[in-house]
Parts: sequence; C-alpha cells; structure tokens
Amino acid sequence: MTKRYDIMWFESIDSTNSEAKRRISDIDNLSVLSALSQSEGRGQKGNKWSSVPGENLTFSIVLKFGAEVMDKSLVSFQVAAKEQFVLTEITSLSVVEFLSRHGIKAQIKWPNDIYVADRKICGILIENSLRGEHISSSIIGIGLNVNQRNFDVNLPNPTSMALQTGLQEDIKECLEEFMDIFQKILFAALSSDHNLRESYLSHLWRRNIPAQYIDLSTQRIELSSQHIDLSAHPSPEGQHPGREFTGIIRNLSPIGHLQIEDTEKGELKEFAFKEISYIL
Ligand code: BTN
Repeated sequence: MTKRYDIMWFESIDSTNSEAKRRISDIDNLSVLSALSQSEGRGQKGNKWSSVPGENLTFSIVLKFGAEVMDKSLVSFQVAAKEQFVLTEITSLSVVEFLSRHGIKAQIKWPNDIYVADRKICGILIENSLRGEHISSSIIGIGLNVNQRNFDVNLPNPTSMALQTGLQEDIKECLEEFMDIFQKILFAALSSDHNLRESYLSHLWRRNIPAQYIDLSTQRIELSSQHIDLSAHPSPEGQHPGREFTGIIRNLSPIGHLQIEDTEKGELKEFAFKEISYIL
C-alpha cells in the first residue's frame, strides 16, 4: 500500500496535539506530528501526560474529512459526529496490532487505554472538530511507552514495550511501522472492509469478567444550565462520590457506550465516558 502519511519530528514542543491544532488549516490530511519531548503533554480528563524525552512515542495524527479536502487528501470520507467512536476503534486496534507484532498481547480498556495485563502501556487522546453533524477534523494523540523502564512512583500502573520484552526499540522505526498499520486499518474500516466493532470487542479488557466499578452517572448535578462533572472533583478524603458495584462488561451500545451488567441489581447499565470509574 502506498505510504500516504507525512511525519514531522520535533525535538521539543509543548504538546503535539496542541501543535496540530495550531497548524490544522495549513497541514494535509494524514500529517503526523511527533515529538522527542513534550513540556505540556496532555492526557484525558485534564491530566498531564509525562514521558522521558527520547524514550517513548508521543505523536498526533491529523485526519481531515469532507469534500473540500478531497483533491489534496487521499481520504475523502465523512464520519458523522454520532459515529465518532469509529476513530477510537481504529486507533486502539492499530496499537493492539502494532504491539502484537512485537510479541506483546495487549487489550483495550474502554474507551481507549491500551493495557498489558493490568498495566497501561499506551494512552490516546482524540480531539474532534465538528462541522454541522459531521467531523471536519480529528487530532489523534498517542502516547506509547516504548523504551522507558523507570516511571514516576505516583503513576498507578505503567508499563512499556521494553519492560514487556526486554528489548530496546528504535522509536522512529516504530512510528513508521505503527503508521503503516494505522493507514491499513483506517482505509479498510472506511471502505467497510473491516469489522471494527467485533475486533474491538474481542480485545476488550475485562470483558465477561466480574470486577469492581464506581458508577458516577448519578453524580452529575445541575447548576443553572451548567453540568458539573463530579468525577473530575473527587471528595476530599480521596473517596469517590459514586456507588461502588460489582459488574461484568458485556457489550457496547451502537455509539460506543459501555454496557455493564450490575450483578447485584441484575440489570444492564450503559455508561458514557466519565460516568464510570474502574477500580484497579
Ligand atoms: C491518556 O490520558 O491516557 C491520554 C494520553 C495521550 C498522550 C498523547 S502524547 C501525544 C499527544 N499529545 C498530547 O499532549 N497528548 C497526546
């Protein structure tokens, strides 16, 4: 398959996602911005993403959709806003396949953390821009732990490729290899040639296994017209304000919400991102 992406390498930058956002109107579809070092790496839920300079992959892939980029771009498809989970599936499955080629069996902790057993090896931050009911562009930020062996003690459960295999990798080669896989899955998925959902479910972490969760869905309080998300504000003693329960991940809804069977109540519940917290 022809290589359709371009990789820009930065020695040091605040955040590849932020840089991609700043350059969005000047760069082509399938541009990749990768940094040896990020000073303000961003994670999900407002967290910081830290990575030892030069040891890991921290990069962002830019996807531009829609008619006006058709001639420049080699991808001329549309993704409806309500189908945006497809980008999570494509990205997560690309990381899983890349790791599998390096002998690492990884799973997807919904929605898009990549785990090896009970340890996180990769985080993904997807930031979409909408035009009407469709996604106009997407910035897919990926932090993959490659060669780092020592992590901040405050990180709950990190791991890396080196810790899993004992091997030192060339990060630039890894990125080329990852992008070949990403491009292959992207094109297959968007030409309906790949059963993404089935594949995603088959790699879902903790699927069909009883485990402990915290239901944060009832913790959203309404204040005037604003919604305050209490999951971002844990109670002072570090306790979560939600209800702890034993559940079994069963499936996903059509838009990618997580369906968990509450074993105590005997009912299937559906959660959006930030409405559920895993107890590790
Ligand atoms: C997470 O919290 O798990 C998501 C982490 C995403 C980190 C990557 S590193 C490259 C890109 N640039 C950023 O600032 N964040 C993403």
